[in-house]
Amino acid sequence: MTRLNLFRNPLQRWFNKGARPTVPVKALHERDRRRMVRHFLSLERSDRILRFGSFMSDEQVTKYVNGIDFNRDMVFGVYNRVFRLAAVGHLAFAPRQPASEGVTEKDRVAEFGVSVLKSARGLGIGSKLFERANIVCRNNDVDTLYMHCLSSNQTMMHIAKKAGMEIHRDYGEADAYLKLGPADPASVLQEAMQEQLATIDYALKANVRRATKLLDRLPGRQPKE
Ligand SMILES: CC(C)(COP(=O)(O)OP(=O)(O)OC[C@H]1O[C@@H](n2cnc3c(N)ncnc32)[C@H](O)[C@@H]1OP(=O)(O)O)[C@@H](O)C(=O)NCCC(=O)NCCS
Repeated sequence: MTRLNLFRNPLQRWFNKGARPTVPVKALHERDRRRMVRHFLSLERSDRILRFGSFMSDEQVTKYVNGIDFNRDMVFGVYNRVFRLAAVGHLAFAPRQPASEGVTEKDRVAEFGVSVLKSARGLGIGSKLFERANIVCRNNDVDTLYMHCLSSNQTMMHIAKKAGMEIHRDYGEADAYLKLGPADPASVLQEAMQEQLATIDYALKANVRRATKLLDRLPGRQPKE
């Protein structure tokens, strides 16, 4: 599989001033369920175990995606140039449990799960999705973000430590949580700007995809992916 090329459109080239490509993180909705299922089913067996904590069959993965409540939770994704979801982050909100007593005074807490396709790793996408989850929590009056993963998951542990998460390891598993500050005008603006940028990127990719499909129908053209 070819590596994800985030520099495919001029907008991204223009925005990319640093060493790492700009990552357009877009909120996902009901209509994205099919693509989400495809994303999770594309994960290798070992990655599926890392993502869900244990192996989930195709049917269980489909059931999980169909069970996501978009009115309660937030899901984010990063599309590649052929409109595949290269990454998905699920931010699930839940009422505060007794285990969170002393950690937060807020009514709700959040838990984050993330996966990035192998072809798109090491580009900062996982970190960017995590950062977006942080901002969304702050903007929704949630100050505690949990993450549950296997303690052998070196990459996720690295991201968690870098973010300053408090990590508790137990029998090969790790529970981590991050305390977040309250919303401020900058966090609200940051979320809105990221979504705007991702929406423009999405529209550009959609148009390019449509144009490519039309071109591929011309006589004598070899269709590309
Ligand atoms: C964990 C995962 C989401 C990371 O995605 P990603 O897009 O590659 O992550 P990023 O590029 O943002 O960051 C990776 C960081 O980990 C570091 N890293 C990579 N492999 C590492 C390893 N074996 N040990 C320690 N750090 C490692 C990278 O150097 C990078 O650090 P930097 O930002 O300080 O340079 C991805 O590997 C994945 O989908 N794994 C399978 C599912 C999973 O484990 N989900 C998490 C449980 S919910």
